[in-house]
Amino acid sequence: MKILIIGGGGREHALAWKIRQSPTVEELFCSPGNAGIAEIADCPPLASSDPDAVADFVARQGIDLTIVGPELPLVQGLADRIIARGRAVFGPTAGAARLEGSKAFAKEFMTRHGIPTARYEIFDDHAAAGKYLARAEYPLVIKADGLAAGKGVFIVQDEQEARDAIHRLMVQKVFSGAGRTVVIEELLRGREASFFAITDGKRVIPLVTSQDYKRVFDGDRGPNTGGMGTYSPALHLDAATVKFVLERIVAPTIHGIAEEGHEYRGVLYVGLMLTEEGPKVLEYNVRFGDPETQVILPRMASDLVPILRAAALGDLSGVRVEWRRERAVCVILASQGYPGNYQKGKKITGLEKFVGRNDLIFFHAGTRSGPGGDLRTAGGRVLGVTALGKTIAEARQKAYETVAGIHFPGMHYRRDIAADAIEPARGDNG
Ligand code: AMP
Ligand code: GLY
Repeated sequence: MKILIIGGGGREHALAWKIRQSPTVEELFCSPGNAGIAEIADCPPLASSDPDAVADFVARQGIDLTIVGPELPLVQGLADRIIARGRAVFGPTAGAARLEGSKAFAKEFMTRHGIPTARYEIFDDHAAAGKYLARAEYPLVIKADGLAAGKGVFIVQDEQEARDAIHRLMVQKVFSGAGRTVVIEELLRGREASFFAITDGKRVIPLVTSQDYKRVFDGDRGPNTGGMGTYSPALHLDAATVKFVLERIVAPTIHGIAEEGHEYRGVLYVGLMLTEEGPKVLEYNVRFGDPETQVILPRMASDLVPILRAAALGDLSGVRVEWRRERAVCVILASQGYPGNYQKGKKITGLEKFVGRNDLIFFHAGTRSGPGGDLRTAGGRVLGVTALGKTIAEARQKAYETVAGIHFPGMHYRRDIAADAIEPARGDNG
């Protein structure tokens, strides 16, 4: 089988690493890829911002399965273009990808289908939003409707902060068109959790749970990032919570989107707040999480390719997914300044010390090959160090011992990934 992965971060390296292990794969492409991916796949420089160019490549090369990593190409209709050329794609069509591409659409969708979420109002008029802010109760959450690379969410404590946020979104247009419409919603309190399920548009296969750390500094301080680390399983998502999420959130989402005439074949990622009233949806994503994928896939015992292919072909019946008992912890190494402006081109050293260890995996994110074949930084998040162990504590210790042996100028990382993971003495199967 010929497979193409779209993207070039740690998530895509994890996908490529897992897919490479499948005996079904003859050729693996990943575009744009990165230095780590280039060791196991061909990385043609396709313009991923041009869905037709990618779809033409798929048709020309006879790619049997395309897996789309990031949300933007999905929202832009890449899956639709590939389907139009008669080829299989793992990733929803543009109509279904609106669950992530438009927060206003997602909120109204949840209302239509009785899916628990924060109470909200939607505004596309600045004056109307202003009137609402005068009579609202605080704190509140203000969100840009469209894609804003995770930066379009403002938690505001009072009316003045709310006015500033609305001004930035609707008048200064800091996220251009993404802030034309805003969602203003109730602040939910509780612990956050992410949940992933693979779907063929009808059936759902849940993945093992994982916990993400979004803030840049220890103790959840500092600005939000794409994710600074993760572990699996997230044991605070107990069996009863998982059952509720599957029955009351994931199933009605998949059935609802099908009922509204959209094809959802891919992975659904639900961002949850576990409130006193039960789990509520904070957001939908229509793709795998990064770095969550870097702990989920190393725990998967099954071959990933038949699973993704069955979902893409619309028939997951008969597919079973087996998981390893081992736990996984991933620590992200980031460039100085991330998530703000950061420098690139720094030399990365130390990886060679760990060659041959099968309990450690280095997932490249922002890396490229430098002159003379050395490894250089090329992004904000540079490397994900994933370690496997019998317990989360053991995996965590191995991950941090490894991190201590890796270096690049300005490298920073959180020291408290999985430190709060509570594991019963005889863990369940997670
Ligand atoms: P989103 O992109 O909608 O997931 O928002 C990004 C982050 O903002 C979430 O991971 C939460 O930490 C926070 N957030 C979003 N909506 C709410 C809400 N209604 N209540 C509390 N926190 C929220
Ligand atoms: N780790 C958060 C995300 O993938 O959006």
